[in-house]
Amino acid sequence: MTLCLLTLKKQRPNSRYVLWSRIDQKSCFKSILTANLEPIIIEQIEINNYLQTNLNEFEKQIENLNPNEICCIISTTSCFAPRAIDNIHDLSHLCQTYSIPHLINNAYGLQSTKIIHEIEQTKRSNGRIDYIVQSTDKNFLVPVGGSIVLTYDSQLFDKLSHAYPGRASITPTTDIFITLLSMGKNGLLDLIEKRKILFQIFYDKLTQWAKDNNELILSLKQFSPISIAISLKHLPNEYLTELGSMLFTRRISGARVIKLGTKQTIDTYEFMNYGAHSSNIQYSYLTVAAAIGIEENDIEIFMKKFDSIYQKLRRNEN
Ligand SMILES: Cc1ncc(COP(=O)(O)O)c(C=O)c1O
Repeated sequence: MTLCLLTLKKQRPNSRYVLWSRIDQKSCFKSILTANLEPIIIEQIEINNYLQTNLNEFEKQIENLNPNEICCIISTTSCFAPRAIDNIHDLSHLCQTYSIPHLINNAYGLQSTKIIHEIEQTKRSNGRIDYIVQSTDKNFLVPVGGSIVLTYDSQLFDKLSHAYPGRASITPTTDIFITLLSMGKNGLLDLIEKRKILFQIFYDKLTQWAKDNNELILSLKQFSPISIAISLKHLPNEYLTELGSMLFTRRISGARVIKLGTKQTIDTYEFMNYGAHSSNIQYSYLTVAAAIGIEENDIEIFMKKFDSIYQKLRRNEN
């Protein structure tokens, strides 16, 4: 992300701002600061418990600032529910209208046919997309460390690759090369298809669980094809961290508890309800994900362990 920002900045020497649709993931925010650019944080708007791109605010900021001073807009496709996929279609048309570059953070979006479809439709409708960045570990079952940058424009690609200093690091390239050779195209496509089916199973099981326990599913499939959020309104605040740590010690490491009122400072920027992608949320909640590599048994084990911990903590309360 930093390399893309620096490459764009070079083409727009008078720019200093990045319009950023808030997502509570530290590295993408830090990439803006590391590129010595100034983030303009655009909060999500909540519609029916769902956090969606605030297009009016984007347009207002573009009109307030000189568009030439905006290095780019950063949108994010893959994120934890209840934050929705950003409205990349409308954002890319804003970028087109005002001639502002558009950088998409597609961290784990390559594993979702829905997200890929959104990106392709956006491009087909002549929306502006400059670079799309995704992590190799999240999409291809390889160790952490690499990213793939996609662009529809070969000149933009050359600019980026010429900006890259040195050869480091070859390891992620070797990892992905070996992995793709061993699973083959069909192996990868099968995993993507399986993930989609298991997401639906997970979603249905959690919906039933939420009904049985008077909790809520805070995410809609069309806005969040990978992650699911479940309210924890019947657990008191002091048990929430415990729930997270009990899941972790039972080797459920991907689930995250988002607790109302958590503050986080990154550099000089303060975020309220950090982790929730929004300063205004109504409930504490748990997010889980059906990511590539998931097995049906993982869902069974999660449901059993989560339910048992939840019931124990809820009983303690009464
Ligand atoms: C939305 C989002 N952006 C960026 C990142 C950072 O990716 P990496 O760890 O490959 O730098 C993550 C990682 O979890 C993420 O979820």
